[in-house]
Amino acid sequence: MAENKTEFFNKIVSLCKRRGFIYPSSEIYGGFAAIYDYGHYGTLLKNNIRDSWWKSMVQMRDDVVGLDSAIFMHPKTWVASGHVGGFNDPQIDCKKCKSRFRADHFLKNFGINADKMPLVEINKHLDDLRKEKKLKCQNCGSTEITQAKIFSLMVKSNIGSPTDELKEENVVYLRPETCGGIYLEFKNTIDSLHKKLPFGIAQVGKAFRNEIVARQFIFRTREFEQMEMQYFLHPLMMKDKYESWKKARWQWYLDNGISEKEIKWYKHEKLAHYASEAYDITYNFKSLGDFDEVEGIHARGDWDLSQHSKCSGVDLSYTDEKTKEKFIPHIMETSVGLNRLLFMFLDNAYCEEKVGDETRVVLKLPMHLAPVKVAVFPLLKNKPDLVQKAREVYDALKPYFMCEFDDNGNIGKRYRRQDEIGTPHCVTVDFDTISDETVTVRDRDTMKQERIKIAELPDFLKVKLA
Ligand code: GAP
Repeated sequence: MAENKTEFFNKIVSLCKRRGFIYPSSEIYGGFAAIYDYGHYGTLLKNNIRDSWWKSMVQMRDDVVGLDSAIFMHPKTWVASGHVGGFNDPQIDCKKCKSRFRADHFLKNFGINADKMPLVEINKHLDDLRKEKKLKCQNCGSTEITQAKIFSLMVKSNIGSPTDELKEENVVYLRPETCGGIYLEFKNTIDSLHKKLPFGIAQVGKAFRNEIVARQFIFRTREFEQMEMQYFLHPLMMKDKYESWKKARWQWYLDNGISEKEIKWYKHEKLAHYASEAYDITYNFKSLGDFDEVEGIHARGDWDLSQHSKCSGVDLSYTDEKTKEKFIPHIMETSVGLNRLLFMFLDNAYCEEKVGDETRVVLKLPMHLAPVKVAVFPLLKNKPDLVQKAREVYDALKPYFMCEFDDNGNIGKRYRRQDEIGTPHCVTVDFDTISDETVTVRDRDTMKQERIKIAELPDFLKVKLA
């Protein structure tokens, strides 16, 4: 599709709102920055992506179990993990138009990699750009840009306090990542499920970050969902397991219809002090004009369990039954944003095709991810026998597939609506149906139609949708 990224981006955002995938949150109050609500189709698509992840990460594996830990945790959790002291981004402001920017992102535009760069160094680079008269607001062009300062990404609340004041001693945090809950339940999981190393714990849930800049639709939001898996192992196993998890996660993208040329690895050169390896899977977002991170795969050493052992006073070490060796397990993590994946699948699936004089918009989602699998139509809305028969067909298919009944507008318009939400099959009940008990089944991608007996329809669709 020869068009610029902004046009493509706007088309996706517009389709999401128009067709009930994603709405800006609190719109009737003027909106709420970087927070989104998921409508009917967005929820169905998100659930399908989550289920595909869960199936490959938990259902199909003997060595991974599930968890659903609470969003609120003891505040010491985030002191131990280093988040309270150090989960920050460097922020700069335009004094004139009050726009905010992440200083590291700002410097990236000048070819400077400021990932994990100390604040003094960031400010040195900004001063150099200022002297060269290159430091300008990306919004209004003003040269009045502040020094970089540290901005905490932690979102605070005050659960269970006798007062609604947000005093430091009452503060609790909304988790900035879901893995915190996994570390805290490592011991309970071992004690209750008797798991032996190596094994993983997976969970899906909400995370919250006070992002400085969040203006790429659902790519970076302040409330989002993560799907994380923490794999606990002996340090000698790290190299092997890291490689096998990298392969497994790469394959998941291919199995979900993302072609190999659309994804690539990004190796982090600057690592957190406890990490020994960190790779991202990046996807070529047409709507953002570049490859960008969708998932991180990190070798985290024994940092997490050591810290929680130290700060809680509870021994989180593991004793190998055979060798009797006692050690703090090391952790291999896979971490992906569910909302960011949803954006990736929309970006990948959105197509425009010429059909006669018209352009049809179609979401070519893989069948198993499509929000609705089958739409059922009566040819005409004002013929009660057709409507009744179509309702019967719809009721017969509902137990097997996510279906939709539609009798609004003409058949052409109904096809276009279903194409736009990515429905793989449309079933039409027409006048022949009444006499011969057959219907037409139309394929989303080829637009070809087949005549099928109603009695054979569930099995026919099961094969097509497998
Ligand atoms: N536990 C490791 C961790 O949280 P991360 O790189 O900060 O690592 C992992 O986040 C993934 O979570 C990212 O690759 C991205 O898909 C998603 N993610 C992070 N921040 C996000 C945000 N503000 N909005 C949407 N997704 C986000």
